[in-house]
Amino acid sequence: MATSYYPVMPVSKVPVGGMVGVEVAGTKLLISNIGGKVYAVSGVCTHEEFDLAEGIVVEDAVTCPLHLSQFDLRTGVVYNPPATEPLKVFNVKIDGDMIFVEV
Ligand code: FES
Repeated sequence: MATSYYPVMPVSKVPVGGMVGVEVAGTKLLISNIGGKVYAVSGVCTHEEFDLAEGIVVEDAVTCPLHLSQFDLRTGVVYNPPATEPLKVFNVKIDGDMIFVEV
């Protein structure tokens, strides 16, 4: 399927060390700012599809509130069960102050 870059939000709306849940072109995403760099990963837990926008961010990872799997917000890697599949990672471009994500 063809992908496109979509404008998502200004960089200034994502706090450093924090994340924001958004839906872009029908896809739930987590936009995070880790150490001043912006990342985008899927916003749906790979265990039971819980909305990770309700999760808790500690350092570089989001914890799913339902069964506490943790995922790296930069790479999507899952750190602990019950989830076993990583989160999908989306390409990010910054133009001026605007974040664009390839969906
Ligand atoms: S739904 Fe996220 S760990 Fe179970």
